[in-house]
Amino acid sequence: MLEKLEQLKTDVELKVQSIETLKELQDYKIEILSKKGAFSYFMDELKKVSNENKKEFGQKINEVKVYLTSLFETEEAKLKEKELKEKLEKERIDVTLPGYQFQPGSKHPMNIVIDEIIQIFLPLGYKVEEGPEVEQDFYNFECLNIPKNHPARDMQDTFYITDGILLRTHTSPVQARAMEKNTEKTPIKILCPGKVYRRDDDDATHSHQFMQLEALVIDKDITMANLKATLDLVAKKLFGEKRKIRLRASYFPFTEPSVEVDVSCTCNKNGCPVCKDTGWIEILGAGMVHPNVLKMGGYDPNVYKGFAIGFGIDRITMLKYGFDDIRHLYNNDLRVITQFKKER
Ligand code: DAH
Repeated sequence: MLEKLEQLKTDVELKVQSIETLKELQDYKIEILSKKGAFSYFMDELKKVSNENKKEFGQKINEVKVYLTSLFETEEAKLKEKELKEKLEKERIDVTLPGYQFQPGSKHPMNIVIDEIIQIFLPLGYKVEEGPEVEQDFYNFECLNIPKNHPARDMQDTFYITDGILLRTHTSPVQARAMEKNTEKTPIKILCPGKVYRRDDDDATHSHQFMQLEALVIDKDITMANLKATLDLVAKKLFGEKRKIRLRASYFPFTEPSVEVDVSCTCNKNGCPVCKDTGWIEILGAGMVHPNVLKMGGYDPNVYKGFAIGFGIDRITMLKYGFDDIRHLYNNDLRVITQFKKER
């Protein structure tokens, strides 16, 4: 039996040397060392050995078992290492290969201007609000003191979807929604940037879709002086510290008084195409919130006052960056848009 044991040992040693994969080795290990494997024969035999020889045989069998177990372990470790090496080699990444070229996008110039305006207002305590582009006639007109058949409706050629539903013609309806939403009727300070739509034929200065940004303040002691100071600050931050503003009396149904706001031009009024030699460029409309608008928003006009500003983002963008055609802002021509890469 001891010879057979020696024989098994050498057989296993030899066989193990020729095995090349971990799987094969593990199968072979089962064949030899599992409960029903080749080695179990000796365990069965041991039971039959006389008591006096049992100790010697038992020790020998045990020695060989320990030896074979550790032999399998070392071989297993070697093969594992070998297979890992092969895998790493096969899956090796060539870091010298040129990578994919990612083309980082750039902010649209109008978004740059919107972000800039928001950054001016945020420290003053304003919050950004959004409203729907598909709007109800009620918010777009009625709540803003423009009842049906009011001639002011002609100022804004409207895309109607149904009788009472339309594409908003301005961002002002967000004023009405903000007042309505504020059930506590506490002060309001909001900004609302967004797309607006009008039934205009597209040309160098008109687009059927354009961008506005509405600012609204409602509080107890708001006066025209607050509006003027705010406009002055914004103009200087947007266009430069040397710029001045000028307020011209105007008419909007939702503000009283209403103003159109000009910013001073940088030219010397000599053949300047931007201000047409007037020295002033119109940039936005504004005014003190009309008492009727406050009332419809649930605010008592004897207690609360407010001001509103309507920025034309397209116009401001064109002025700031020297665009001569509004359509450049909407054609998505990469030659135009990628010029703003630095400003991401
Ligand atoms: N909603 C006006 C328009 O689209 C712009 C405007 C003017 C907004 C005066 C205002 C404002 O908030 O006070 O023509």
